[in-house]
Amino acid sequence: MDALHKHLDEARDWTIAVRRHLHAIPEVAFQEVKTAACVAETLHGLGYAPETGVGGTGVAAVLDTGRPGPCVMFRADMDALPMQEESGLPFASTHPGAAHCCGHDCHTAMLLGTARVLAAVRDRLAGKVLLVFQPAEEVAGGAQAMLEHGLFERHPVDWCFGQHLWPALPLGVVGMKPGNLMAAMSWFEIAINGKGGHGAMPHLCVDALEVGTQVVGALQRIASRQANPLQPTVVTVGRFHAGTALNIISGRAELGGTTRTFDTGVWKSWEKTLDTVVRGVCDSMGATYELAFRPGCPPVINHPEAADIVRAAAAKVVAEAQVVEPEPTMGGEDFSLYQERTRGAFTFIGAGVEGGRPLHNPAIVFPEEALATGVALNCRIAWDLLA
Ligand code: NI
Repeated sequence: MDALHKHLDEARDWTIAVRRHLHAIPEVAFQEVKTAACVAETLHGLGYAPETGVGGTGVAAVLDTGRPGPCVMFRADMDALPMQEESGLPFASTHPGAAHCCGHDCHTAMLLGTARVLAAVRDRLAGKVLLVFQPAEEVAGGAQAMLEHGLFERHPVDWCFGQHLWPALPLGVVGMKPGNLMAAMSWFEIAINGKGGHGAMPHLCVDALEVGTQVVGALQRIASRQANPLQPTVVTVGRFHAGTALNIISGRAELGGTTRTFDTGVWKSWEKTLDTVVRGVCDSMGATYELAFRPGCPPVINHPEAADIVRAAAAKVVAEAQVVEPEPTMGGEDFSLYQERTRGAFTFIGAGVEGGRPLHNPAIVFPEEALATGVALNCRIAWDLLA
């Protein structure tokens, strides 16, 4: 552990500098070209031989000690959000319309810090470490793309760990919970076709806007009337476009949104459920519809043994009282796709500060002190499993 301490101290400012560089060049899902190049170049500099283009813009690197032992995977996400940053930071986004308001720049930097420290202590380890820099977490497509690219076939993994900076937990706290942590999610888009016409003559039209409002209401009643009240369920319509003028009945309405649940059976049946409800409303009003559905990803369910490993490691990084069990969230994470295939745990790193803002807020400022906690936790987990 002393060996780790020295290298963790040395990596602290370096990790922050890497993070600031990444923060200034945010790139949205599957467009992480500069980010991936920076990651690969940094890994090269640390003595790794990274694979690039894994599932699009993903990067993977292995620390192979040459000695027998387990393969432990750590994953960071690299993508930014399609929004304008308003943080006022000196290293704020230089890319208009893209911003690291979910902290994925921090996650990437923390994993590079981990790569640096573990490379420095590799002679004390036995087994392998797989470092996964994933694209496109925000659209829940990056993990799938990397797995379809054969990531786990090339690198069979025994354990997987991921982290997210979490403003809902105070800085200095580590949140770990076995079992359900983050919800399964899916995406849907619905186009409703009616018959447009004069605003004064509804009897000659099929008002797609009005049908759309009924669809929105019917979708809300899935959560309130069909779902088991003991199972948290969310249906959110986040977009609704219809109409052009005050006296024109709209012939088309387009809406879309997302669903959340912890129940894998409910998650798998969403497409059918949505289709049944939308068809019922449209049929009753003489409209037709198109439903485009994307299944998203399953729930993040932390493996009890993996959760114990994280808790034990965290208690050596922060005070034991600072290791807490966080509330589950209906937010989703495609880290769950790795957990479907191997034992894994996803950790919340406390990043909450007085007057702070929530994730995805354009003016959010992440406390950089949290980065050292993330790096130390990863390294301690690797040390506990491989030393
Ligand atoms: Ni995120």
